[in-house]
Amino acid sequence: MSNETDYRAVVNPIYLTAKTAVCLMADAEIPGADEIVRKLGVNHSDLGMADPDMMLGNELVVEAKYRTMCRLIEESGIKTNADLPCGYTPKALHMTEKGLRFVGLDLPIVAQEVEPVILSLAAHPDQIQIHGIDATNLDSLITALSDVDGPVCISTEGMMMYFTESEASAVVSNISHLLAKHGGCWITPDPEFMVQFFLTFQSVLGEKAIRKLEDSRKTATGQSDVLNLTNSFIIRPTDIKGTLETSYKFLQKHNLKAERINLAENMPELNAYRKLTPDQITAFKTAMANCFYWKITLDENQKLQTEKQETKPFELSYTLKDKMFSASLSGRMDTITAPELLKAWEKEKAENEITAVEIDCSGLQYISSAGLRVLLMIYKSLEDKSRFRMSNVSDDVLEILEVTGFDQFLLRV
Ligand SMILES: C[S@@+](CC[C@H](N)C(=O)[O-])C[C@H]1O[C@@H](n2cnc3c(N)ncnc32)[C@H](O)[C@@H]1O
Repeated sequence: MSNETDYRAVVNPIYLTAKTAVCLMADAEIPGADEIVRKLGVNHSDLGMADPDMMLGNELVVEAKYRTMCRLIEESGIKTNADLPCGYTPKALHMTEKGLRFVGLDLPIVAQEVEPVILSLAAHPDQIQIHGIDATNLDSLITALSDVDGPVCISTEGMMMYFTESEASAVVSNISHLLAKHGGCWITPDPEFMVQFFLTFQSVLGEKAIRKLEDSRKTATGQSDVLNLTNSFIIRPTDIKGTLETSYKFLQKHNLKAERINLAENMPELNAYRKLTPDQITAFKTAMANCFYWKITLDENQKLQTEKQETKPFELSYTLKDKMFSASLSGRMDTITAPELLKAWEKEKAENEITAVEIDCSGLQYISSAGLRVLLMIYKSLEDKSRFRMSNVSDDVLEILEVTGFDQFLLRV
């Protein structure tokens, strides 16, 4: 691997899905999207979505989401929109034209790439800030919003489904903390994204829908390296009632409550209708009456928990002796910090023969899938897997390893 950017891309490839989204927005002629795509130099054909039916279904979902979310954010009356994750969309341009302040939050690799593009296209660049954060990392979010006065409308499109159970829980807890600190609300289509996909594809593609949906799912999981696209926050179309209950309980644990907002009642007219027959448009609009976005707020009836758990900064130290790579980790290993271990490992591996690895986790407080991905890469590159050892794993980290199934590999010996 050649440079810093490569390591950041390797630990969390989910960011690639955001490039697909902005290309679909350009197809739907959402203002600003085409300029962004051109400035990024993204090539549609690299994104693995060539099938016209699959593109049409995805374009409808993406345009409906983008336009409805913009409307809901504006109608919230809140003057600051914190878009978590902002990806590469033109939302900053739209929101600032409507007089809102826009704070874009995404992984450092995305923030760094999108910031100059958005600022160069903005009529009100002074109203736009873009920050590199990790949604599981509360300190990074608090810092990014530190100079925001008044309430925030946090918007989340296309992120929650990529998280493991522990990551989703960390993110929901962080959002609860931000709402307690700043006031405001959290608006998101994510909990019922599967329902929106399913009903969109079914209403316009009929019998082909299931096959095309499966192809879309494969593209999303292939790009993101995430297999399941589900956790306790996400509603499953096969058990809406049961999973709604689970999701409400999940929010309650973090002092939050949800109001479901009907998509058909709030969706503006879409450009993508130009690609549909009148019957398809009617079927699509009828189907959207069964889709809901969520407006989530603090549950004032519950005790507020604004106290923040102390986190130590991430630290890595390591030695190489007798072909053994011994590393000691402390603090949080997430998308922001995991590249450090990967970089150290790649450097040592390139220069030395390594036959054994020992990772001391006594100071490790939290590990996200980006951290797990790095440990798995190290594990896989050992010829004799039995010579990989993790020691002093805390109960919290052990739980994450067990729930994700990584314990089967990483803690075998
Ligand atoms: C499907 S894209 C959605 C982006 C944008 N909201 C949109 O609608 O196009 C998923 C986004 O989640 C971001 N992401 C993934 N993991 C994240 C994390 N741990 N913290 C913050 N953002 C994350 C990716 O970088 C990517 O921009």
